[in-house]
Amino acid sequence: MLGVDIRTMTDDEFAQMRQAFADHGVIFLRDQDITPEEHIAFAERWGQINVNRFFTAHDDHPKIAMVVKEPDQTHNIGGGWHADHSYDVEPALGSILVARELPVTGGDTAFASMYAAYEGLDPDLKAHVDTLHAVHSAHHIFGSKSFYGNREDQSQGRIGNADKADRLPDVIHPVVITHPLSGRKALYVNPGFTISIQGMSEEDSKAMLEQLYLHAVQPEFTHEFDWKPGSIAFWDNRAVWHSARNDYQGQRRVMHRITIEGCALSA
Ligand code: SIN
Repeated sequence: MLGVDIRTMTDDEFAQMRQAFADHGVIFLRDQDITPEEHIAFAERWGQINVNRFFTAHDDHPKIAMVVKEPDQTHNIGGGWHADHSYDVEPALGSILVARELPVTGGDTAFASMYAAYEGLDPDLKAHVDTLHAVHSAHHIFGSKSFYGNREDQSQGRIGNADKADRLPDVIHPVVITHPLSGRKALYVNPGFTISIQGMSEEDSKAMLEQLYLHAVQPEFTHEFDWKPGSIAFWDNRAVWHSARNDYQGQRRVMHRITIEGCALSA
């Protein structure tokens, strides 16, 4: 969105932004010179803030989750396609990511529209997936047996609370949701947190998910966002996937993320 300053946005501009957010599932803002307090104030216009259980919080602002990669860390956070918090009973509405320190090159974030992916499915497959439910989990990403749970050097200062992730029950959501803001149908499985399709054999479930994932990341459904100082991306976790590119080894990247609470999802 161009020509808007989120610090002084009028109710009218906010209504336009809400419509753009519902229509596209992600909005990008440039040249926003905001403080952490203004980031929090903007987020609170959208809903209640979810204080992240697994990410390291900002030293002075616990509502802000730090998304950091230090020069000596090889793995980035969010480096595969995923939708934040799909492992929750009431998955988060969305996340507002603010660029704070960027690598000289690289570090883009890619987005994939799950509205477009659903609409682009073959009609028979669409009718089939409309009837399905899937299981989502945080264990393999944030739990004690996950990569971060086992690699202190990579998790240090970034990811914690593995025991909390271990205790989090897996949840079930429809494979296709009716989006609570737009009323449109969207595909709601993701490679990060969806572990199986309910009621299918492991083999069939894996094959079905792989088919959907391959379909969803076709270039016509995706967009790559090139961060600049002052950039903000605000995405809807129920409408898009995102994936942070890890192509800036040896450089530092620091982002501030605030996530907004969502609601239960239905077909
Ligand atoms: C995330 O998955 O929230 C991180 C995205 C990014 O750092 O670009």
